[in-house]
Amino acid sequence: LKTFNIDFCQIEIGNIETSSLESLLVNRYLNARKIILVDENTHDCCLEYLITTFPTLEEAEVMLLPVGEENKVMEVCFQVWEALSEYQITRNDLVINLGGGVVTDMGGFIASIYKRGLDFIHIPTSLLGMVDAAIGGKTGIDLGVLKNQLGVFQYPQAIFIDQRFLATLPENELVSGFAEMLKHALIADGDLWNVLKGTDFITLLNSPKFSDFIAHSVALKVAIVAADPYEKGERKKLNFGHTIGHGIESVCLLEEPISHGHAVALGMIAESYLSYKLELIQERELVEITTTLSNYYDHVQLTDSAKKSVIELIQNDKKNDHTGVKCVLLKGIGEAQIDVHVSNERLLDALHYIDSVFRAN
Ligand SMILES: NC(=O)c1ccc[n+]([C@@H]2O[C@H](COP(=O)([O-])OP(=O)(O)OC[C@H]3O[C@@H](n4cnc5c(N)ncnc54)[C@H](O)[C@@H]3O)[C@@H](O)[C@H]2O)c1
Repeated sequence: LKTFNIDFCQIEIGNIETSSLESLLVNRYLNARKIILVDENTHDCCLEYLITTFPTLEEAEVMLLPVGEENKVMEVCFQVWEALSEYQITRNDLVINLGGGVVTDMGGFIASIYKRGLDFIHIPTSLLGMVDAAIGGKTGIDLGVLKNQLGVFQYPQAIFIDQRFLATLPENELVSGFAEMLKHALIADGDLWNVLKGTDFITLLNSPKFSDFIAHSVALKVAIVAADPYEKGERKKLNFGHTIGHGIESVCLLEEPISHGHAVALGMIAESYLSYKLELIQERELVEITTTLSNYYDHVQLTDSAKKSVIELIQNDKKNDHTGVKCVLLKGIGEAQIDVHVSNERLLDALHYIDSVFRAN
């Protein structure tokens, strides 16, 4: 078992059966009522294992959230809050979020707001959740198609990361999570990038060493978050690929949703291009990044009007201030530069660049 701490939140990576979950449940939360939040897929794939492994959870109330980013919205939160109220859940009770990033983001938000805050635990079940979404205390929901516009920073009591849950995760979702692992390498660890870019992901996933890569990725995020827990400065680095990525993800939400990691991967291609245009990385590095990413992630052809919508949506990105759009760009591979102003013309140019990468393939 590998463990990390951010403030009072303990992160344990490894076999959940030998983790401190059991003692937490029977000691600190012995008299608490437990609410397990799942979506339809984690209900079917992960819940039974959890309940049979931890008999204290047999009595838990299970609440089912609808699957997908399009449901990471206030209407669903309201329904859960009403149900919590109906079950007379008190501030001493415990919410357990069992799912991918949608469940942990929304479940963390629901728990943080209800009666000014219930304790909650994250058990991420997607790769993206394990290496990224569950870590770092950001909870939240979307406002219409605008991503993560409502939310609070609130750390869970504990996070339990067990690779066993990945056994039922569809391959495209595994590849989605890999995008955030690649991102952590690009912004913070050039040596890791050199390993990942030269390794086939599926081979890596099936190797006994994969849990070390999960732990490494978590460690990179923990180090960044611990130094700047409320994103006043350096933590913004973690948003590399996300300014343009979120714009693309939002536009696709209206028609045919794509996975978060897929959108971020396309965003990383575009933002690497911007890094190159601003002479922050060399052409050779740009080619290396685009070749690696375009090998795993499909092109999404946006029409001119969809590209325009992406630029419009980016104007509402959380990292902006009144001086305009600010991106996180790469400064060489393994480092990032935050708060770089980028004009709308450049953003559009970067969207066209994505097309050119895939056209060339
Ligand atoms: N809070 C943060 O710091 C942070 C960071 C990155 C991403 N996010 C958010 O995370 C979300 C994306 O997370 P995600 O990719 O995990 O999305 P998700 O929660 O929608 O999960 C992806 C899909 O996999 C299914 N699934 C999850 N675990 C499964 C399992 N073990 N077996 C079978 N199916 C399973 C889900 O039901 C869903 O269909 C986005 O909303 C994004 O904004 C948050």
